[in-house]
Order: sequence, then structure tokens, then C-alpha cells
Amino acid sequence: MAGLLGVSACGGDKPAGQATGGGETKAATTEVEVFSWWTGPGEADGLKAMREIFEKQNPNLKFLDAAVAGGSGDKAKALLQTKLQGGEPPDSFQGHAGAELQGYIKAGQLEDLTSLYDELKLKDVFPAQLVEQLSVEGKIYSVPVNIHRSNILWFNPGVLKEAGVAGAPKTIDEFIAALGKVKAKGKVPLSIGSEWTVTHLLENVLLGSLGTDAYNGLFKPGANWGAPEVTKALENFKTIMSFAGDPQDDWQPAAKQVADGQAAFNIMGDWAYGYFHNPPDGGLGKTSKTDFDWAPAPGTEGTYLWLSDSFTLPKGAKNREGALAWLKVAASKEGQDAFNPKKGSIPARKDADASLYTDYLADALKDWSGNKLAGSIQHGVSVSQPWLTAINEQVGLFLGTKDVAALQKGLADAATANAQ
Ligand code: GAL
Repeated sequence: MAGLLGVSACGGDKPAGQATGGGETKAATTEVEVFSWWTGPGEADGLKAMREIFEKQNPNLKFLDAAVAGGSGDKAKALLQTKLQGGEPPDSFQGHAGAELQGYIKAGQLEDLTSLYDELKLKDVFPAQLVEQLSVEGKIYSVPVNIHRSNILWFNPGVLKEAGVAGAPKTIDEFIAALGKVKAKGKVPLSIGSEWTVTHLLENVLLGSLGTDAYNGLFKPGANWGAPEVTKALENFKTIMSFAGDPQDDWQPAAKQVADGQAAFNIMGDWAYGYFHNPPDGGLGKTSKTDFDWAPAPGTEGTYLWLSDSFTLPKGAKNREGALAWLKVAASKEGQDAFNPKKGSIPARKDADASLYTDYLADALKDWSGNKLAGSIQHGVSVSQPWLTAINEQVGLFLGTKDVAALQKGLADAATANAQ
């Protein structure tokens, strides 16, 4: 599977998705409302880069940034539901490839983009199995802009050294031992943010404890969430959480604790790279390998816990032509190569200019083409939105009770109610 999805870097320089400006755009419909949750430091930089290309190519259209703050879209997705149900969709919105997008498709909220794929020959440039995650019955419903990786352990090399931790822990047991050493030195062993970042941590501990095949098996109908291996994984989760610092407001302040040397570790997606690395006024302008370093989350080396952001054309969009012009930029090599180096992701297109992806991103490109795959829970690949809501509720309860048995039962019930 990884081979099929692998990004090859052939570096051809023909821009495949030149936006046309939407033909007969009328003055009254020049505004194109693009809905995402990329408002915060690091997140907004990538969107801005793609927006600039859109504006250059479509001087007659006005980009309306309808982003709603809150990492992982925890607030944006709720507002989006209200807009969709009220018949007031944005012209294009961000949705995750996989089960999350399938929900919008099955609810009949999206237009079929197969003709756009045919026009731009997009089936040739996106990995076939990614396109599958965006399709129902052979029709394709969104344009993927990137591939993100969930399973990254970000760490501060200086803090590890001070605590006598030789390098990034490779297993869950090594991780727990390292957290203990940092605690003994008085620094925050593990930084966390708002509640969704704890579900993000949970998916990483499940993968690192169970292994890739058993993790992937959790999302198949009839999966046994009550198994003793899951109990062990959740006990690991409890132990790891006992080393967490005070919850920060969102993922950025939690990641910043690592870059500033207040905390040793943070498990977060690679959007954190954009935040650490981008120049100030967006990013933190930190130096890689000195202020921050990275490794696969403990126990997950060789697996890419993936997710992909995509953009859609909702039914009833007020500026359909404008939305198509946006999707053409989002699909294009130029758009993706401007967006992804800033976003901390690798392009969904297979013909990216590999020379633009350096440092962490070079590692990501390499691993993406060779690793096994597992789908993120928190970011829409493996579970539907209702299932994720149920998981988040259980994680929220667990933060109060610390009761592993109750968490396991809650997760098993959520799976029974939602697995298809
Ligand atoms: C994910 C999204 C990423 C990044 C992250 C933090 O759900 O796919 O692009 O924005 O949330 O907000």
C-alpha cells in the first residue's frame, strides 16, 4: 500500500493546474469564501502562500478567508455543520480524506469533482489509494492538498541532555523511562494542549503499543476494542498522561514549551514543523536539531500515521466558478509547492519539486514512500465525525476519572455504535 501511495519526486516543472479565473465570473459573485481552521501561527502561513497564487491568477476574484480558529478544526467543524444544514455553505471547505469526508459525501453535501479531475488529469498525479479515500462509487469529491504525519515525537535536545536521556526513545517503555528522568530534573516531561491534542496522543500510544496491523484492525467492523492488548495500550496511555504538564490552550503553546526549553517532549502532527521553523510573524524561527528535533513517536518507526487535508465544492456554493478556480490552484503543482513547505506537510501530488522539501520535510518525503500506513483517528481518516465525537467524549471523561476500564468500555461502545 505504501508503495502505491508513495510520492515520487520527478521534478517536472509544467504547472498542471493553471486556474482560469472561472470564465464568466460576474461582479456580484467575485468573492470566494474559503473555510478552514488555519488561522493560528504556522497554520496560516501555508494558506497565505496558496492564497497569493490564487489572487495572482484570478485578479477578478476576491479570496474571503472564512477560517475559524481552533486546532484540528474542533470549533470550525461544528460551525460548518450549522452552515451546511442551514443551506449557507461556504464556497469551499477543508475536509479530511477518509471517513470524515465520506460523511459529507454520504450526506449529499458535496458536488462530484470527477470532471475537474478529468480536465486536469488529476488521477495521474495523486496516489490512487488517496483518490479512493475521496471517492464514493467511482465519483471523486475533493482535492487533496497535502499529506500530514501524526506520529512525530518533537523534543528539545538540550532538555534531554540535561536529564541524561541519550536520544529519542524508540519504544513506549523507553519513553516512559525518559519521561521519568525529565520529571526528576523539574522540567515538564510532556506538553499537551486542548482536549483534542490528548486524543492525538492516544492514537499515537495505541499505534505504538499495538503495532500497525492491530491498530488498523481497530477500525474494521467487529474489531475487539475489549482485547487485553488494548487494555495494556490504555494503561500505557494513563502512565504517559501522568507525566503531562498543564494543558495549554491549543497545540501551538504546547509545542512552544518544547521549543523554548520548558518541556522535553510533545507528540504532535508535523504542522508543528511549520510553526517551529517558519520565520517569526507566523512561525517561531527556531533552529532545527538545536531548539527542536524529531523522531517517529515511540513504537511507531516504519509507519506513517497519515492524514490529508482536502478542499471541496459544497452543493449550493454561491460562487461555484470561483470555488473551481480555488480548487484548481489547490490541485496545482505550483499551489502545492507553495503551500506545503510552509505548512509542514508534503504534497499530495506525486510530481512535487523535491528540492523544496528539506530538513524534516525531506525525512517525511522519504518515509512516506517506504513506510507502512495507518490512518489518523483525530484527523478524519479512520473514524467518522460521529465516532470521533464519541471518542473525544470518552477521552474528556478519562481526564477526570483516570479510569482505564471505563475508557476501554467507552471506546468499545463507540466502535460498536459507529463502525461500518
Ligand atoms: C489537522 C489538520 C492540519 C492542521 C492540524 C492542526 O486536523 O489536518 O492541517 O491544521 O489539524 O490544526
